[in-house]
Amino acid sequence: MSVESSKGPRAEIENLLMESRRFPPDPAFVARANATAALYEEAERDYVAFWERLARERISWYTPFDRTLEWDLPFAKWFTGGELNISYNCVDRHVERGLGDKVAYHWIGEPGDTRTLTYADLLRDVGKAANALKELGVRKGDRVAIYMPMIPELPIAMLACARIGAPHTVVFGGFSAEALAGRINDAEAKVLITADGGWRRGKAVGLKQHADDALVDTPSVESVLVVRRLGDAVYMLEGRDHWWHEVVERQPALCPPTPVESEHMLYLLYTSGTTAKPKGIVHTTAGYLVGTSFTHETIFDVKPDDVFWCAADIGWVTGHSYIVYGPLANATTSILYEGAPDTPAWDRWWRIVEDYKVTILYCAPTAIRAFMKQGEAWPQAHDLSSLRLLGSVGEPINPEAWLWYHEHVGGGKAPIVDTWWQTETGMILITPLPGVTTTKPGSATFPFPGVEADVVDGDGRSVPFGGGGYLVLKRPWPAMLRGIYGDPERYRQTYWSRFPGMYFTGDGAKRDDEGYFWLLGRVDDVMNVAGHRISTTEVESALVDHRSVAEAAVVGKSDAVTGQAIFAYVILKAGQEPSEALALQLREHVAHVIGPIARPRHLLFTPDLPKTRSGKIMRRLLRDLAEGRVLGDTTTLADAMVVDSIRAASGRGEDE
Ligand code: WTA
Repeated sequence: MSVESSKGPRAEIENLLMESRRFPPDPAFVARANATAALYEEAERDYVAFWERLARERISWYTPFDRTLEWDLPFAKWFTGGELNISYNCVDRHVERGLGDKVAYHWIGEPGDTRTLTYADLLRDVGKAANALKELGVRKGDRVAIYMPMIPELPIAMLACARIGAPHTVVFGGFSAEALAGRINDAEAKVLITADGGWRRGKAVGLKQHADDALVDTPSVESVLVVRRLGDAVYMLEGRDHWWHEVVERQPALCPPTPVESEHMLYLLYTSGTTAKPKGIVHTTAGYLVGTSFTHETIFDVKPDDVFWCAADIGWVTGHSYIVYGPLANATTSILYEGAPDTPAWDRWWRIVEDYKVTILYCAPTAIRAFMKQGEAWPQAHDLSSLRLLGSVGEPINPEAWLWYHEHVGGGKAPIVDTWWQTETGMILITPLPGVTTTKPGSATFPFPGVEADVVDGDGRSVPFGGGGYLVLKRPWPAMLRGIYGDPERYRQTYWSRFPGMYFTGDGAKRDDEGYFWLLGRVDDVMNVAGHRISTTEVESALVDHRSVAEAAVVGKSDAVTGQAIFAYVILKAGQEPSEALALQLREHVAHVIGPIARPRHLLFTPDLPKTRSGKIMRRLLRDLAEGRVLGDTTTLADAMVVDSIRAASGRGEDE
């Protein structure tokens, strides 16, 4: 494995490093900031004691913990001996101290319908949903799958599971029936919570149909709860399927929270790895609650009167940590928006910011670049002066997008926090603190207090400032993954074997002369398309699954808006003729097998693929070819003619 050696990312990083503008925090912001530099000092003195203090202060415990950290590398246990309930911490305790009327979510449906949920409303709805799950036979430890659009019942369902100690596994609503079935089966979920559908780009998306297709093949599922969002007629299987409004509504609102141990599994979230089989990332209760709530409060500088908007989908980790658990633990008012940023027009977000006086906005660089492309007239037409802090997540943000965001959304004054983290890390780990850190456009700056990150070379040696290498983490942190569900060996292998004693992130990074971290993207076979992780192997196996395909190789090609776009090289079986129609069919096939986010943007039929003598596909060359770059080292190529034949084939494919 080598850090991306082709010219693209390197050249880009050289440019980044020439980006010399600096943005020190505004003194007025500093004066009121939640986090000060003292946090770094405290955490450096003793990081275990630091997290211990936070866990004691921030969590309402039924039984206080007696050990802060048990670290049996690579298996961590935090706050053992303690008992708590995360839904109690996110809802009940706020109502008990008089915040029942505070808004938890301002929900906005894509067609324009709205709902407001206060903390008292949440308490009632979560209690009812939890009682309904109990009636369906869900017990502590049983897994519940959730496949829903962005409607209030989604966080309610998650909290209801957590209330009775049933780990949830949320599957992004854009995933296919097949992807849903795979996740349900890996988790052996007993119940599925879904909806008749949701709205996306003005179209009704029928989730129940996908769910039904998935459920043909999921023996563990006993019951299905269906929220009515669209009102269209859907198939309901007698004895298995139940309407949410029938079963949940008639339940008593009171459901005492079930105390669980600190290390009780809170949820599973599946993410792409370097193989075709997604990994079920395990997160547990207390450490995750401490990590997400504390980072939320300090990095976003959240105050009681803020209106916070994390514009991710709850189906991804960003939504789990910064729409649901972090903000709710801090009694924050959040925006929950169902639909697309361009529906009905490209100012949809800016309307929401204006109407709800949003103060903090957290989104992905892909969204920012898409807005840039539409021009600044859209944000300019709205009063965005309520925004006082902006965040970025999911991929490296290029300085140009950073500066556009700063100027046209943040009014040239709101600080930007570029936050690096992963599904596995559970919480933000590399980020500025907005009242402390001088930012540089394009840099995620420094590790969060208590976090030890390093950039190492291929032998695991720390690379001095000014150099690049692999990003690793050298200490456990409370919200870290506890493993891959059902596969401790894969956990050890994937994250802890590349560099002994260190967690390998799969990302390349560079530190500049002042120690600022600059993220360089993935160094493994994982693509990052519009901030979503998609494995090359997963797309390849979806292609090969098609009856016409003999072999496929997939790479990420740089894209001005989505960061990377999927580029597929396809070898057809004998007797199959390349055609535009077939290319279209294959792209649709991938969308069908995995989900529309994985549909290749480019597809090229080729007679052969470049391989090493040992038969390994040389993706590096395919990336160079896709980018139209001069080829790197070809000495290990078994058959040098292959490259020419691929070049000759160019044009015989199909682009979106
Ligand atoms: C990338 C999303 C650069 C990185 C929270 C990581 C980033 C992967 C940033 C995790 C950032 C995330 N700058 N790259 N600020 N944030 N990434 O699991 O490659 O969906 O490994 O978690 O996204 O993606 P995931």
